[in-house]
Amino acid sequence: MAHFPTEFLDEVLARTDIVELIARHVQLKKSGNNFMGLCPFHHEKSPSFSVSADKQLFYCFGCGKGGGAFQFLTEHDGYSFPEAVEYLAEKAGLEVPQSLAPDSGDQEKRKRALALLEQGATLFARALMSQEGKAGLDYFHRRKLSQDIISKYRLGYALPGYGFLEKVLGRDARMQAQLEAVGLMFKGDRGYVDRFRARVMFPITDRRGQVVGFGGRILDQGEPKYLNSPETAYFHKSDLLYGFSEHRDEIRSRKLLVVVEGYMDVLAMAAHGLPVGLAPLGTAIGERQVREILRLHAEPVFCFDGDRAGKQASWRALERMLPVLSSDYGPRFLYLPEGEDPDSILQREGADAFVQRLEIEAKPVLDTWIQGLKNLAGSGVEGRARMAKKADAMLAVMQDDYLRQVWRQEAEKVTTLKLKAPEASPRKPHPISRVASLATPNQEKFLAALLQKPERIRPLLLDQNVFFLDDDGLNLVYTRVLELAATNTGVVQALLLEFPQEERIPLWASQSDISDEEYEKLELLMRERHLHRLCKKPGTLEEKTYRQEQWKKISEKLKKVGH
Ligand code: CTP
Ligand code: MN
Repeated sequence: MAHFPTEFLDEVLARTDIVELIARHVQLKKSGNNFMGLCPFHHEKSPSFSVSADKQLFYCFGCGKGGGAFQFLTEHDGYSFPEAVEYLAEKAGLEVPQSLAPDSGDQEKRKRALALLEQGATLFARALMSQEGKAGLDYFHRRKLSQDIISKYRLGYALPGYGFLEKVLGRDARMQAQLEAVGLMFKGDRGYVDRFRARVMFPITDRRGQVVGFGGRILDQGEPKYLNSPETAYFHKSDLLYGFSEHRDEIRSRKLLVVVEGYMDVLAMAAHGLPVGLAPLGTAIGERQVREILRLHAEPVFCFDGDRAGKQASWRALERMLPVLSSDYGPRFLYLPEGEDPDSILQREGADAFVQRLEIEAKPVLDTWIQGLKNLAGSGVEGRARMAKKADAMLAVMQDDYLRQVWRQEAEKVTTLKLKAPEASPRKPHPISRVASLATPNQEKFLAALLQKPERIRPLLLDQNVFFLDDDGLNLVYTRVLELAATNTGVVQALLLEFPQEERIPLWASQSDISDEEYEKLELLMRERHLHRLCKKPGTLEEKTYRQEQWKKISEKLKKVGH
């Protein structure tokens, strides 16, 4: 990983305003010294997400996510760390020291590839508006997409025939190889050819809105109806959702998320004033996509076509959802009438009727599960046994024990059989944290007090009786705090970079202020514990007596302040 000098990172942060950065995605309201808003990392109804302008930190008291500007970009927008640095540096008008980024080769390559994809999108969009692209534009108009929608989603057209991209971008071996790497060309028997020809084009973006691939639809009849970019280093179908970067903020503010099957469904919704649709890219929805969806909105509606394929797709989505489900989420499923999809329903019935269906006809995931089991089993005794077996297998995948009990009871009702599914699944280990907790609330609080008022640190450092903490993990952070105070670095920001997996650092720094009086007590307590441990260590008689005396002194003081 690129290693940026601390001074450079400091400089970048000093010129960045985290409030402005976050306000682009979250509506923030001033509240005391902080700003508050609805957390973009989990679904909530009342704001527990705080952004501090003084500390340049964000922290959610609901889900515990927190950090500084770099963390917001990596966690929220999916930037890699070096990309986040580069992005903010550029914004601040700073030059990134190239020689200091050892992996700049890869970075460069990625940047070039993304620029090429971006250029591809522009060329397709331009072709759509050209004389030769009339067929494409007519097609979109037939499908009732306005110019606004066409521009907003950067819809395009890949001209018929070969060599369209090369004509503009240059016909040399290097360009061909690059176009192949991003999925826009492939090597056939007679050399490189364009992958997309005579198709209307749907650019697919990643979380931060960069074009990473395309879907292309044939104009009239023909196979395949949709052609997508192949998996490339930049395009991972199972990680992406069509509409995500465009609709993320709308979904949050409207508190509505509809997962549909196709690109055209997403666009038809947007055209009808519902820019809250997301779709997988022609593949079945996977677990990672389900996680992304539920993170964005706890009660999404999965809307499936009323045909056989739709039923199958919904069952698969439900299976993928099982390990992620908990009582925090309430996904629902909506089946449209046979032969319909959201696009056709919207064209015929309009937006209000569609929204009404979402509200009234969408069934909770549990009902959908039970119905699916029934369909699967058919009738008869064997059917009930088959149903029970399948139910058992599916329950075993669930992670939320309580929810599983509820589901099992429901499945037992319809099968009238006793199910075996275990009550409790082995707990997944907690996300790695180098720091122990719970047993050490005072030590934690002490650290928090230091981070809240970094001016408390220097005296500790200058004190000849430097003391340490007995919790190894906390001590690791603490010793770094001391070291950092010796330099001029922003302590909290530096810690965030060094202990990315320690989620409590932003919490500590954002907690309501620990008073000076309380801090004094905490400091004494830390000294007392340190000396107490020292007393047990071997040493000369002289040393031992000295430590004992010191310890007694501190203990006395502690008693005086009421401990
Ligand atoms: N799809 C695909 N490859 C195909 C057919 C479909 O990747 N050969 C994907 C596309 O992402 C498409 C989605 O599956 O958007 C839904 O397919 P389908 O229901 O067949 O298409 P519609 O979205 O209804 O497309 P249209 O309305 O344009 O016919
Ligand atoms: Mn359709």
